[in-house]
Amino acid sequence: MTEPLLRIRNLRVWFPVGAALFGKPAQLRAVDGVDFDLQAGEALGIVGESGCGKSTLARAILRLVPSTAGQIVWMGQSIEGWSTRQVRPLRRDLQIVFQDPLASLDPRMTVGEIVAEPLRVHAPELSRAERRERVADILRRVGLSPDVINRYPHEFSGGQCQRIGIARAMVLRPKLLVCDEPVSALDVSIQAQIVNLLQDLKRDFGMSILFVSHNLAVVRKLCERVLVLYLGKPMELAPTEMLYSDPRHPYTRGLLAAVPIPDPAVQPLRLGTALGGELPSPLSPPSGCVFRTRCPMAEPQCAATAPTFDEVSDAHRVACWRWREK
Ligand SMILES: Nc1ncnc2c1ncn2[C@@H]1O[C@H](COP(=O)(O)OP(=O)(O)OP(=O)(O)O)[C@@H](O)[C@H]1O
Ligand SMILES: [Mg+2]
Repeated sequence: MTEPLLRIRNLRVWFPVGAALFGKPAQLRAVDGVDFDLQAGEALGIVGESGCGKSTLARAILRLVPSTAGQIVWMGQSIEGWSTRQVRPLRRDLQIVFQDPLASLDPRMTVGEIVAEPLRVHAPELSRAERRERVADILRRVGLSPDVINRYPHEFSGGQCQRIGIARAMVLRPKLLVCDEPVSALDVSIQAQIVNLLQDLKRDFGMSILFVSHNLAVVRKLCERVLVLYLGKPMELAPTEMLYSDPRHPYTRGLLAAVPIPDPAVQPLRLGTALGGELPSPLSPPSGCVFRTRCPMAEPQCAATAPTFDEVSDAHRVACWRWREK
């Protein structure tokens, strides 16, 4: 098998909070032992409820927050200890699209300046004319007329602003596009257009995508595999269709029960599995399996020992003591 584009091993991101008067500050475990590989050209969805660590994981991979432990291997190089300065050249290949399209664009810059900025920083060898051509080309590819270059972000709708954000991220033709809830702030009718755009860009440019979302329907459309996170820990990792048709983790089933999926074959698995209760605090996660306090299948063993991330099959892994039972 070829070296993956990105390899994540036992990644932890803990935030010290509330500097205690005596002793150490408490540690908030936002990401707590995540493992996965991302292949070139692959889209991986990262799903889970609000607060389960999706954004923190994405940011740690981009080195926007420091990781506490574990490995981030980018194209064969361990980058987890790298400083901002060391990471800067990697930005050419590692780009991000944010959730709030308007807030992520500088209101004082024109669309042309916004989209050209990454080229100015990372491809200074380009002439002005070449830069202008690259900007016009990517604007066309994201469905905007190159005429928009002299306009400002506030003149555009949310969906158009997200197209501008995607153009800025794609203008360098990155190898990995990290999308943190890129459609959550948009109207439902616009969401599908942006997802289609990402699909088209992936087909044309062949980049990998890490797609963070709490919307399982959107993830299903775009991603080849899905990683389910709960309290910073991986619960299940599987090819998309496998995850939706044969979910093995009670948490995955709970998430699926909350979304309407027009597929009768999936229905029986979802019976009686809607999620109750609230996410426990990542400051003091439950012992053993972190999901056990909300799990309809929990038994004493689950409180005593954390389950291992078992292989259900080659590509399908799950962290549950009872995954063999349906
Ligand atoms: N800089 C920080 N300092 C302290 N705690 C943080 C920090 N950033 C995130 N957290 C905490 O880490 C946990 C995970 O947050 P994160 O934003 O990664 O979740 P998320 O899955 O992206 O949620 P959402 O779906 O709401 O975006 C939360 O409990 C959050 O409060
Ligand atoms: Mg988030």
